[in-house]
Amino acid sequence: MNIQWYPGHMTKAKRAMKEDVKLVDLVIELVDARAPLASRNPDIDSLAAGKGRVILLNKADLASEKANAVWITYFESQGFQVMKIDARAKATLKQLNALIQEACKEKIERDRRRGILNRPVRAMVVGIPNVGKSTFINKLANRKATVTGNKPGVTKAQQIIRVAKDFELFDTPGVLWPKFEDEHIARNIALLGSIKQDILPLDDLFVYVMTYLTKYYPDLLKERYGLEIDLDDSDWLLKAFDHIAQKRKIKLLRGETDYDRVIQLVFSEIYDGSIGKVTWEDYTCVKD
Ligand code: G4P
Repeated sequence: MNIQWYPGHMTKAKRAMKEDVKLVDLVIELVDARAPLASRNPDIDSLAAGKGRVILLNKADLASEKANAVWITYFESQGFQVMKIDARAKATLKQLNALIQEACKEKIERDRRRGILNRPVRAMVVGIPNVGKSTFINKLANRKATVTGNKPGVTKAQQIIRVAKDFELFDTPGVLWPKFEDEHIARNIALLGSIKQDILPLDDLFVYVMTYLTKYYPDLLKERYGLEIDLDDSDWLLKAFDHIAQKRKIKLLRGETDYDRVIQLVFSEIYDGSIGKVTWEDYTCVKD
């Protein structure tokens, strides 16, 4: 799957982040709970080396509850402080604070030994585009819009928000890009809805989605479309198209099922979450 982002932006954003990261104690990484590995960029581990680390599974409201729990355990086993969130909801600052204290306990202890008390932890938020960084920062800062980009004449000090008495945040998030070269990653990112549909191979994705949902979320297909798929039936795909079209009263196109409209319908319901809570990254893949 070939998805073209902008390599120029990527390099620039990475350079800016490298500089910003020097000024913080803690890196708060947002990942999409529906595809927590695909929505990371592994470069973050070297960029954030030596810093406190928190991973927030954002958009947890759109992901499977069971999968959320498994992914939390997975990231905890990798040594991260982890929490699932819905960045649009009222910030769970108290819970977040406990994670921050834990992630930065060495720094806090070091400060204490040097006689520095109550120096706030300074953090930056990072993640791939559309993962919810601005929403999260705005909620924490209790305001409506984020100042984006580095404005000339605005110093770093002016871009730092005091969120709590012991917690400061850069108001500009660090942006990293997923690894689109990897086919599985590109596919899972495509299912999160932030890539323009016209550059996606929607027919192939549709087959994948139906197969995946049949395997892992059959109840959801039944509930949403009254659909039960038998993958051993060689006609299953055509039958699924016809079934969804009939169920949703999609008009025939020259006497035949309008396949494109069925695909559009299913993808729009995946993207807005009305299809139900789905985690696209098969969490069994991280068991070994
Ligand atoms: P970014 O800064 O990382 O690029 O992401 P941003 O905050 O702009 O969020 C991207 C979209 O994701 C926004 O929707 C936002 O509302 C939505 N979003 C963020 N966090 C969550 C979450 O936890 N759950 C759900 N369900 N959605 C979330 P949008 O449609 O692009 O804009 P808007 O009109 O909703 O603001």
